[in-house]
Amino acid sequence: MADAADIEDLRLLARRRAPHMVFDYVDGAAEGELSMARAVEAFRRVEFSPRILRDVSQAPTAVEILGRRIAMPVVLGPTGFTRMMHREGERAVARAAERAGVPYTLSTMGTTTAAGVAAAAPGGWNWFQLYVVRDRARNLDTLALAREAGMDVLVVTVDVPVAGARLRDVRHGLTVPPSLRWRSALQTLRHPAWWFDFLTSEPLRFATVDGAPDDLPGLTNLMFDPSVTMADLEWIRSAWQGRLLVKGVQRVDDAKDLAAVGVDGLVVSNHGGRQLDRAATPLELLPQVVAAVGDRTEVFLDGGVRNGADVAAAVALGARACFIGRAYLYGLMAGGEAGVRRALDLLRAELVRTLQLLGAGGIDGLTPDMVRLRAGTGI
Ligand code: FNR
Repeated sequence: MADAADIEDLRLLARRRAPHMVFDYVDGAAEGELSMARAVEAFRRVEFSPRILRDVSQAPTAVEILGRRIAMPVVLGPTGFTRMMHREGERAVARAAERAGVPYTLSTMGTTTAAGVAAAAPGGWNWFQLYVVRDRARNLDTLALAREAGMDVLVVTVDVPVAGARLRDVRHGLTVPPSLRWRSALQTLRHPAWWFDFLTSEPLRFATVDGAPDDLPGLTNLMFDPSVTMADLEWIRSAWQGRLLVKGVQRVDDAKDLAAVGVDGLVVSNHGGRQLDRAATPLELLPQVVAAVGDRTEVFLDGGVRNGADVAAAVALGARACFIGRAYLYGLMAGGEAGVRRALDLLRAELVRTLQLLGAGGIDGLTPDMVRLRAGTGI
């Protein structure tokens, strides 16, 4: 693990450790996977314009978001089925986030309860992500459990009216929980350690919504309600006392509507390319959203972050912080909590080095003129 020099190294370790269908559930995206490729590629097109002859002996990375200071502008975003990646799942991720001084977001599709996350990382800043489920009363029960567990930031994800088509999962015949069928039998031989862990740990179940079904079709039917509208969001705004973020903003006009409802923040995101393929690329859309609503609400970027330099670029372009998904899941699959720690340590070291080489000194020294996006390469 300590030899992993960047997130890509953790990804390669993860690919070796986890069965293909588990790795591909994380690594894959929807349809032709263009949104995901473009999100990553947009960061590769970043061209920095460094200042020289600045005193960069210090490079503080702490920022304030939603009224609270965090160690660096990174938020561990919500991911479902996290105990499928490693038996410690959400607990491992929450502990690593707590240690790094950054928030962790438990998903509605989580496999650990809100109370379980709070117990694992009592000193962490733990957030909750909601999918508005069909039975509206259940949403209130779920929010009450999150609140009781001390979660004071709610992230409502709005880019999943129906599940996206993730073709790698279709081709693998992925079931949740993974079942030992003939397809996976060969994989068992290749990844005995993962299967041993999986079969000897607490059975995988959806833990955040009381009485949630254990099968994927039943769960999908419960979770995704294609009739959710802005009126539901206003209802949640009135029912939730804490801070409210909306994740999945993909247009400037929607960002303006949300700012008008009084949300505390917006996450420019296309779900890591796992929903509508060929949706707008978060890094490209970010400056327009910041220009339109950045004075009224906090704008976050989500999608494609694989390096601390990506975080610096997004912050320079106006993001308050970046959400990450796969970057920490690769670490989790590669080595549980130690792997997530490694991922966060790498991102932090890369961010500090970038701030210094860029002549920004600290995060506060980042300015939009330090970043230019080169022309696209045609994907
Ligand atoms: C996700 N994502 C996600 N988002 C959400 O709001 N609720 C969820 O349950 C999940 N589940 C989930 C599972 C897995 C395996 C992945 C990879 C992603 C999306 C996630 O929060 C985030 O938007 C993307 O991962 C961001 O893209 P990157 O950082 O992975 O490129």
